[in-house]
Amino acid sequence: MTYKVIQWTTGFVGREAVKGILSHPELELVGAYAWSPEKNGQDVGELCGIGRLGIQATNDIDALLALGADCICYTPHQLASVDVLCRLLEGGINVVSSNLTNMRAAGETARARVEAAAQAGGASLFGSGIFPGFANYLAANMASVSQNFRRVQFLESVDLSTYHAISNYENLGWGQKPDPKWEQTSSQVLGFYEECLDVMAAMLRVPISERRSNLEWAITPEDREFFGFEMKAGTIAGQKNTWQAFTAGQEDAVLELDVCWVAGKGLEPEWPIHHGYTMKVEGNPNVQTRVTFSPQKAERIEDYIDMSNTVTSMPIVSAIPTVCEAAAGIRTYADLPLITGHYVPNI
Ligand SMILES: NC(=O)c1ccc[n+]([C@@H]2O[C@H](COP(=O)([O-])OP(=O)(O)OC[C@H]3O[C@@H](n4cnc5c(N)ncnc54)[C@H](OP(=O)(O)O)[C@@H]3O)[C@@H](O)[C@H]2O)c1
Repeated sequence: MTYKVIQWTTGFVGREAVKGILSHPELELVGAYAWSPEKNGQDVGELCGIGRLGIQATNDIDALLALGADCICYTPHQLASVDVLCRLLEGGINVVSSNLTNMRAAGETARARVEAAAQAGGASLFGSGIFPGFANYLAANMASVSQNFRRVQFLESVDLSTYHAISNYENLGWGQKPDPKWEQTSSQVLGFYEECLDVMAAMLRVPISERRSNLEWAITPEDREFFGFEMKAGTIAGQKNTWQAFTAGQEDAVLELDVCWVAGKGLEPEWPIHHGYTMKVEGNPNVQTRVTFSPQKAERIEDYIDMSNTVTSMPIVSAIPTVCEAAAGIRTYADLPLITGHYVPNI
C-alpha cells in the first residue's frame, strides 16, 4: 500500500520531512504547500536542495485538496492553525504535524472544532517530533520495566548556539528584557510541550489531580549573536521550563518534564548543560537513559543542522501509514499502535 503525501511548507523541518517521505517505501510525495510567496510555483526538490522532482509547491489550497492525498505533513513555523487544520481534516485528509500534541492547550473550543472536523472528514490528526514527541514517549515506555514506578522524569538540555533556527526563540522573549508578558507567551507557545504530560499519563494510567509549571530565565551579560539573531546585554538568552503532574495525596510529581535551553556559555545564572535527553524512572528498579544524536556524515555544520531537523521530522513521517489507518479524531502515542521505522536495504 502506498500513501500519497503533501508536505506543508519547506522550512528546516519540512525539507528533512520531504527527504524522509521520498525514502519511505510506503509513501509517495504528491504535492507541497508554499507559505512564502517566492516559493509558489517552485519545484519542491529544488526548494529542498535535492534536485528537481517535477512537483511544484503551491499556495492554492483547493488545488492541493483536489490531489486526493492521504496525508499532509504539516510543519510551518507558527503554532498549528485551527482554521487550516479544520479545512484539511474536513476535506478527509489525515494530518501529521511537528507543531502540536493533543490540542488541549489551544482551548476547549478550538480542540472541539478540530475533533469535529476530523470526525466529519473521517480523518485523524497526530503530532510528534523529537520533543514534544518521540523523546517523552520513550521516557514513558521505560516505566514498563519497573515495578511500582513512582516517578518518570525527562530532561531536554541543549545549547542552542548551534541551532540554525535560534531566531524562532524570539517569540519566547529571547533578545528582550525580562517581562511578565513573556511568561504568558511562553505558556501559549509551549502549550504543546505541557500536553506531553497528558500523553504520558494516558500511556501509564496516571490519574492527574494537579499540574504545576515553572519558568526561569538566564540573562546574557554581554551582546551575543548566533545565526544572525542578536541578544543584547541584559536580555533573555536562556530559559528553564518545568511541567509537573501530581496525583492525589502524593507530595512529589509523578511525571516531570524539564527543558533547559541556553544560547552559549556565560549566562547568568549558568546552568549545567547535558546536550541531549536524560530520562529517569524511579521504581523497582530505577531506570535511566540518555539519548544523544550524531550525524551519519559529520563533515560540515550543515550535517548537524540537517540531523536536528531529521530527528524532528522522522517521528511524524514514520507515523504516516499508522495515522492513515487510525480511527478518525485527534490521536496520540497513547492510542496508536506501535510506530516503527521502515528498513530500506542498501542497493
Ligand atoms: N516537536 C518537535 O520536536 C519540534 C522540534 C523543532 C521544531 N518544531 C516545530 O516545527 C515547526 C517547524 O520548525 P522549522 O524550524 O522548520 O521552522 P521554520 O523553518 O522557521 O519555518 C517553517 C516554514 O513555516 C512557514 N512560515 C514562516 N512564517 C510563517 C507564518 N507567519 N505563518 C505560517 N507559516 C509560516 C515558511 O514556509 P515556506 O516553506 O513556504 O517558506 C517556513 O519555511 C515549528 O513550529 C516548531 O515549533 C517541533
